[in-house]
Amino acid sequence: METKWWHDAVVYQIYPRSFCDANGDGIGDLAGIIGKLDYLKTLGVEVIWLSPVFKSPMDDNGYDISDYCDIAPEFGTLAEMDTLIAEAQERGIRIVIDLVVNHTSDEHPWFVEARKSKDNPYRDYYIWRAPGEGGAPPDVQRAAFGGSAWEFDAATGEYYYHLFSKRQPDLNWANPKVQAEVHRMMNWWLDRDIGGFRMDVIDLIGKDVDRGITTNGPRLHELLREMNAATFGHRDVLTVGETWSATPAIAKLYSDPARRELSMVFQFEHVTITHDPEHGKWKPRAFDLVEFKRVMTKWQTELADSGWNSLFWCNHDLPRAVSKYGDDGRYRVESAKMLATALHCLKGTPYVYQGEELGMTNVRFDSIEAYRDIESLGHYRERIAAGVAHEAMMEGIYANGRDNARTPMHWDASPNAGFTRGEPWIPVNPNYVGINAEAALADPDSVFHHYRRLISIRKAHPVIVYGDYLPLFDDHPQLFAYERRLGDERIVVINNFSGETVELDLPPELQGVAGDCLIHNYDVPPRLDARLALKPYESFAIAVRASAN
Ligand code: NOJ
Repeated sequence: METKWWHDAVVYQIYPRSFCDANGDGIGDLAGIIGKLDYLKTLGVEVIWLSPVFKSPMDDNGYDISDYCDIAPEFGTLAEMDTLIAEAQERGIRIVIDLVVNHTSDEHPWFVEARKSKDNPYRDYYIWRAPGEGGAPPDVQRAAFGGSAWEFDAATGEYYYHLFSKRQPDLNWANPKVQAEVHRMMNWWLDRDIGGFRMDVIDLIGKDVDRGITTNGPRLHELLREMNAATFGHRDVLTVGETWSATPAIAKLYSDPARRELSMVFQFEHVTITHDPEHGKWKPRAFDLVEFKRVMTKWQTELADSGWNSLFWCNHDLPRAVSKYGDDGRYRVESAKMLATALHCLKGTPYVYQGEELGMTNVRFDSIEAYRDIESLGHYRERIAAGVAHEAMMEGIYANGRDNARTPMHWDASPNAGFTRGEPWIPVNPNYVGINAEAALADPDSVFHHYRRLISIRKAHPVIVYGDYLPLFDDHPQLFAYERRLGDERIVVINNFSGETVELDLPPELQGVAGDCLIHNYDVPPRLDARLALKPYESFAIAVRASAN
C-alpha cells in the first residue's frame, strides 16, 4: 500500500458557529479559531475539517451556500480565511474545507437567476418538473428535514427539487456546466492552499430523480473520477466523502487509490444500527455491543487491503460520544477515555469532533424553544402534527438531535464557558463549569491529555496505522477487544464498554505475555495476566514484546 500523509494524521472537526467567538456577537468566527490554533497543536492534530464558513443565509447553519468564494460576514473575511490557512500551516495543520455541492442556497445567484424564467440560462442548473395531477408535487419523494422534496415556484409554475430544506435547492449534476462551475471553484480554493475537501452528502450527486434514485445514482463514480481529474487529483490533499449509504464494497469504489476518486468516506453503519427501522433516529434503539463489533469488524476486514477507513464517533450531526456509547455521569472520564482508545487504535484515519477531547456531553434543554437545529425543529413539527407525544419526541431529540453537538465549546469556567462575551446563538451546556479546556489542560489525567497521548502513539507505532486487525472475544457482550499485527509488532487493545467489573480469561497465546502498556485509563497499568478483572469502562493498549511471540 502506498503510504499517505493522512494515514497517520488525526483530523479535528470545527463547527465554526460554536467553536470560539472573538468579536462578541455570540457566533463563533475565524478570528476565534485562529486564536485557538495553539490549543490544537498541543492536542497534536494535523488537519482541521472546517464546517462551512462561506456566505450563506444560514437556513442550515452554512450548509446552504450563496457564494462559494466568499466568507459569511458573521464568520469573518476572505483575508482572515487566508490567515487561518497560513497560521495553521505554520503549526503543521492543514485546513480541509467543506464542499457542499449537492445543493446551494436559494439565495445563490445561480438559483436567483434560474427561478426567473424557464428559458433563463441558469434554469438547468437545478432540477425542475411540471406539477403532477391537480397541481400536486410531481411525486411523493420526501426531504430530509421534513415535507415534500418538491417546492412549487409560482413565478414559472413548476416545482424544484430539494432533498434538504426548501431553501437548499439541489444542483443538477447532469448539466456539464454545473460540473465545470464546481471544478473551477474547487481549483480556486486549492490555489489558496487548502488541505482538501470534506464532501457533503456526496453520494447524492449521481441521482436519477425521475426513477426515484437518490443515493448511489448511476453517474456517481463517473462524476467523482471527473472531479478528481479536473481538480485535486494531482495535488497531495485529503478528500473524504459523506456517504450514509456506503457499504464496504461501495466504500472501496470511492477509496481504492487505483480508481482515482477519494481518499476515504464517512460510513455510518455503526451509527444507524442504533436507529429504529421505522422511526429512525427519533426512536433510538439500545446500543448492542455485539452488533456494533460485527459492523466494525466487517469494515476493518473488508477495507484491509484496498480502500481506507475513516474512524469517528461524532460530528456536528450526531450526539456526543460519551452520552451515546459511554456513561456521561459517574464514569464520564473513564468512558470518554475508553471510547477514544477503542477508536484510535483501529485502522483508518481518526476524526475528533470539537469538545470530544474534553468529554463534552449531550444537553437536555427544557423547552423546544431553546433548540435551533432545522432538522430537529422540522421533524418535531411534523411528528407532533402526526400525533406523536411531545415527551416522546423530546426524548428522541435528547438522544440524537443535532444540537447535542452544537452547543458552544467549553473553554473555561467563566460565563458562557468562555465561548463568547455576548449572548451565545444557542445556550451553553450548563455542565461547562466542571468540563472545560482550561481545567483539562491543567490536569495530566484529563480526557484531553488521553487524546493527546493517543494521537502521538499513533505516530510512533506503524502497527496502529497499517497493522492487520484481529478481533478478540467476538461474542462478549461487554468487551470490544482486538489485536493489531504488523511484522513483529503486535498490540492488544481491550475495552470494557460497561459500568461493571468484567472478569475473563485471556486466550492461551496471550496469557502472561510480556508487554509494554501504551495507554490506559486507571491508575495501575494493566498486565496480560491469565485472568483479567477489568474495572468499569477500563481500557488499555499493550504492545507485546517481540521476544514474547
Ligand atoms: C450533511 C451535513 O453534515 C448536515 O449538517 C447538513 O444539514 C446536510 N448535509 C445538508 O447539507
